[in-house]
Amino acid sequence: MIIQHKGASIFYTDQGAGNAIVLLHGFLENSTMWEPVINELKDNHRVICIDLLGHGKTECIGYVHTMEDMAEAVHTVIGILQLNDVTLIGHSMGGYVGCAFAKAYPEKIIKLCLLNSTPNPDDNERVTLRRRANKMAQTQYAQLVRMSFTNLFDHEAQRANRSIIDVALKEALKTPLQGYLAANEGMAIRPDYGNFWINTPIITAMILGTTDWIIDAAAHKEAYERGTNYFKIIEGGHMTHISNTAETMYALAKFISY
Ligand code: MLT
Repeated sequence: MIIQHKGASIFYTDQGAGNAIVLLHGFLENSTMWEPVINELKDNHRVICIDLLGHGKTECIGYVHTMEDMAEAVHTVIGILQLNDVTLIGHSMGGYVGCAFAKAYPEKIIKLCLLNSTPNPDDNERVTLRRRANKMAQTQYAQLVRMSFTNLFDHEAQRANRSIIDVALKEALKTPLQGYLAANEGMAIRPDYGNFWINTPIITAMILGTTDWIIDAAAHKEAYERGTNYFKIIEGGHMTHISNTAETMYALAKFISY
């Protein structure tokens, strides 16, 4: 389904009935990559899956999409659907958007889960890498997407899930250049949500992969285990919703029923 937000089409899917669960995908992903999770949840919940700005079938609204811009678009969808007491689950960039959303619109949400994601901002090294990638994207876009998307999966996942990854990669390659550049810069300038995370009355979960090279599970355990309602480390890398759906679902179910 499509709604309009600031002159752009925002695409979302809406399946099942029950308490509202909103799924927010990561960078270079889109709603199709939540399919295994939707299938598990939709029998008992209303599952809304939103393509974030410049991803999937959702258009761009600018040349930088901050996490707050993306959260505002999510808020428009949630408003039109008249959802309340939402459980928000964000994978990676979707988790950064989830933090921005929870901070701006706390009245709309009762639970927030960061799946392979973090409340922390980028360090200088990561900002430099993003700006370098954005430069490279101008001339070698498809090559860059192929490389960076495949690298989100650890070696074991790449071997075991080749055909699934190929389907997801095809979707990643549909991300328009402007969507890539705008989101990557938006992530580079995102604020620190660490204090917010620890102090929010919203029920929180952090589900992280043992071999995720983007989010350091051990460092996050140290920093956030005590300030998070449900903290869980599971087997796998950055893309556990695709490469280790069983354990991811088990952890998500625990959080949803928390
Ligand atoms: C993602 O999977 O959303 C990105 O890798 C997150 C990031 O680049 O920080």
